[in-house]
Amino acid sequence: MQANTFKVRVDSIRDEAHGIRSFRITRVDGQPFDNYEAGAHIDVTAPSGITRQYSLCSDPALSDFQLFAVKREPESRGGSRSLHDDVAIGSELVVGQPRNLFRLVDDARAHVLIGAGIGITPLLSMAYQLAANGKPFVLHYFARSEAHAAFLPALSQEPFAANVQFHYGLGSDDLAAALRGCLADTASGTHVYTCGPAPFMDAVVAVGEATPTIAEVHLERFSADPAAMDTGAALDEFDVKISGSGQVVHVSKGETIVSALATIGIEIDTSCGEGVCGTCMVDVVEGDPEHRDHCLSKAERASNKVICCCVSRSRSPLLVLDV
Ligand code: FES
Repeated sequence: MQANTFKVRVDSIRDEAHGIRSFRITRVDGQPFDNYEAGAHIDVTAPSGITRQYSLCSDPALSDFQLFAVKREPESRGGSRSLHDDVAIGSELVVGQPRNLFRLVDDARAHVLIGAGIGITPLLSMAYQLAANGKPFVLHYFARSEAHAAFLPALSQEPFAANVQFHYGLGSDDLAAALRGCLADTASGTHVYTCGPAPFMDAVVAVGEATPTIAEVHLERFSADPAAMDTGAALDEFDVKISGSGQVVHVSKGETIVSALATIGIEIDTSCGEGVCGTCMVDVVEGDPEHRDHCLSKAERASNKVICCCVSRSRSPLLVLDV
């Protein structure tokens, strides 16, 4: 078992919607879970041995169990399929500590949560936290039909019922208009949080950026194509220097910083390997990274102070990293 992971037991499984199943877990050692912030995700290793990231969707104030939900993906390489097919009540799984790249902004004037399909999961934990703290929010949930909308009983009751609006069966032509409607009467300084399929989040970002009252749109991705972030400005080959020891390693074309560092005995923890989970994030001391991840915030990207070593590259001949 890797460091920072522990064994949990599945004590409840529910079919939440068409193809979406939730798993309630408790620690095998009987201890409570550490507190986590809304929006966090965990690594879950399925019985197939494949590890994937899943958002926690329980109330973050509760520590005796955690809840995550999994959509059975038709193209699954053994992650979601194995969790659906091979896990029963009483099964033991290995999970990681929560990590959060999708935090609520404390001083936001108001919060609008916009999710689609399985993308409801991080937004549900945010809704629990916002409701508990008495913060103003609205949650818009888009799904193909009621049968495809997860967690309907929870979302239809207090403390959420008055804050949740459902949008069913919209085609792409109607989506932009519906999203404009979601943001039409927002207060200046509102933050938007979105999770769902990539084209859906792209639509939310486009509408959010065109709405003057929206301060920022935050998003959470669970799969990504790092090549889509290639601006053409990165060098094919570059050097990485370790700030503490002064060791230098060459990163060749097609090689990742993670694998280059491994050749000199420096192991960087990784999980997704595709720039969405943030596990491999390290500090940049010097140099000009080309960020090809999908997990850093706009501000982190602009600061060039951190880099995700599994996918990102360099625009300068030398990157100095603090690892
Ligand atoms: S390992 Fe997930 S972002 Fe690099």
